[in-house]
Amino acid sequence: MYALANKRILVTGGAGFIGCNFLRYILVRHPQVRAVNFDALTYAGSLSSLKDLCDDDRYTFIRGDISDAALVRKTLEEHEIDTIVNFAAESHVDRSITGPAAFIQTNIVGTFTLLEAAREAWAGRFESCRFLHVSTDEVYGTLGPTDHPFRETTPYAPNSPYSASKASADHLVRAYHETYGLPVVTTNCSNNYGPYQYPEKLIPLMIINSLTGKSLPVYGDGLQVRDWLYVEDHCAAVHAVLQEGRLGQTYNIGGLNEKKNIEIVHIICNMLDELRPKPGGSSYKQQITHVKDRPGHDRRYAIDAGKLRSELGWTPQESFETGIRKTIQWYLANQDWVNSVMSENYDQWIALNYANREEVTGA
Ligand code: NAD
Ligand code: TYD
Repeated sequence: MYALANKRILVTGGAGFIGCNFLRYILVRHPQVRAVNFDALTYAGSLSSLKDLCDDDRYTFIRGDISDAALVRKTLEEHEIDTIVNFAAESHVDRSITGPAAFIQTNIVGTFTLLEAAREAWAGRFESCRFLHVSTDEVYGTLGPTDHPFRETTPYAPNSPYSASKASADHLVRAYHETYGLPVVTTNCSNNYGPYQYPEKLIPLMIINSLTGKSLPVYGDGLQVRDWLYVEDHCAAVHAVLQEGRLGQTYNIGGLNEKKNIEIVHIICNMLDELRPKPGGSSYKQQITHVKDRPGHDRRYAIDAGKLRSELGWTPQESFETGIRKTIQWYLANQDWVNSVMSENYDQWIALNYANREEVTGA
């Protein structure tokens, strides 16, 4: 057991969606922990996601790039970091298609830089340190309709620049354990949803577009399947693996919530019809359009989380029905946060990604 009680944790990417939820998760549960949030504040990171932590003297924010070796080294030393949880990444598949270079730099070079800095800073005391690398199920590629969900032993077969960059980082993390004995664990999680997710991803985009009267752009036939997990369940799993995961191992995390994209959009529309009915009484479903598909679009992801369940006793607490209700209610109640993250960059991205996706006939 690696007890977090008095640890000094570097959370990279802590101003992003999952990172900010994770910071809250550990600070609530471990009164003695000190947490340093190391984040470059790209378009996807926002300090408005962390307002409630500003006055907590156990929490420090450092603006920095994980591929800046000197700053990473200095941070590990000055803050006596013994635990790294690496969330920092470029995380959006569509952006990796239009601009892959940033994905190579942050996801691969950045992870390499963290590994090297940890190897140096922790020399001679690996047993009292941990490096948890947060990865994705997308490294396994795509499943057919009747294939068994991804296991930890499923061969890597990434199809997008995003998943290829994450796969590459996962291999480096593994190699640092095999070669140098660095105390690493890796988690591969399915699609997350919940509070503070940037509205470029499917669920928040559909919620925001519904409320602003815009079209709901479903890629292709909308029959692609994702395995959805509420973000707090992901945080609980990372927390469990950090404390009890076996070194050098990987753990799949997933919610047993396989759903087709079009089902997700219908669920969101139905719930908004109930919670925020349109003045004229029509359904948000009328805003759905089917648009040109994403190139290299993986058809199905699904996770077999049996190893995590049997070794560490983790199970998700939220069903999709309870999690999506909480999520929609959060976005309805936090319009200020939404406005604060939807900058000029956001509008440019929407124009770039959706302008050339002419409408297609749906399923
Ligand atoms: P996000 O895009 O919301 O946040 C990423 C954060 O990393 C941002 O705060 C950004 O400013 C920061 N960042 C980017 N480049 C950086 C750099 N070079 N140096 C320092 N900080 C940098 O991402 P997310 O959805 O919270 O995902 C977090 C991690 O979880 C990622 O590694 C992602 O691959 C993984 N993951 C995400 C999901 C999901 O559904 N969102 C599922 C499985 C795994
Ligand atoms: P996304 O949230 O981008 O996550 P990922 O690509 O990492 O799984 O997309 C989830 C699914 O929703 C994916 O199959 C693509 C689809 N999608 C749409 O149909 N329309 C959209 O506007 C977006 C952003 C995604």
